[in-house]
Amino acid sequence: MKIKTAKFVISNTDYKSCPAPKMAEYAFIGRSNVGKSSLINALVNHKNLAKTSGRPGKTQLINHFIINDEWYLVDLPGFGYAKVPKTIRAEFHDMISEYLLNRTNLMCLFVLIDARHKPQAIDQEFMNWLAEKSIPFIMIFTKADKLGKVELAKNIGSYKVEMKKTWEELPQMFVTSAEKKTGTTEIANLIENLNPQFEEII
Ligand code: GTP
Ligand code: MG
Repeated sequence: MKIKTAKFVISNTDYKSCPAPKMAEYAFIGRSNVGKSSLINALVNHKNLAKTSGRPGKTQLINHFIINDEWYLVDLPGFGYAKVPKTIRAEFHDMISEYLLNRTNLMCLFVLIDARHKPQAIDQEFMNWLAEKSIPFIMIFTKADKLGKVELAKNIGSYKVEMKKTWEELPQMFVTSAEKKTGTTEIANLIENLNPQFEEII
């Protein structure tokens, strides 16, 4: 799919103020600093559409972008950042869970996982919660460029082994690098295939 236009629409703290759910929507979530905003920029070929930062905790709102005037991409705040005060973390948590539970046009959530790290409890618990709530998601390993081929394959292999202990069927997985723009075609193709299904459910 060709990305012709990508525009910022609005930032919100409450899903109720988000754009009317009249178009298909895809959201990026994951721990702080995992590379959500960077991957959105790589996907839409913009350097700075979604704001990125080397310091965790950059994205603090629900940010809507409209692509090709046809569908939305959403950049969400990261979770699990220890330096954010507890009360704010609780607010983030509520904001994100309300959004995920109520956004009727959310076709698929991209759960980003840093390819360099071992499976983390917080990601596992989050994906368990998604499954419990029947929120469709796929896993996206990020920052693949920071690892050699062998190490990358080893990390993803051990991630799968860990997940197989509790998951009957593994979610779909993509491997990406925002730096090298790898994996973005797969994401765009997935979106292209899902978009027509939105017409069917409204
Ligand atoms: P929050 O908004 O704070 O939750 O972070 P985020 O998940 O949006 O991460 P962001 O895109 O801001 O990226 C965090 C840092 O990781 C930045 O310094 C990026 O340049 C870097 N980064 C993101 N993706 C990649 C990647 O694929 N490869 C490399 N090498 N660095 C990356
Ligand atoms: Mg961000």
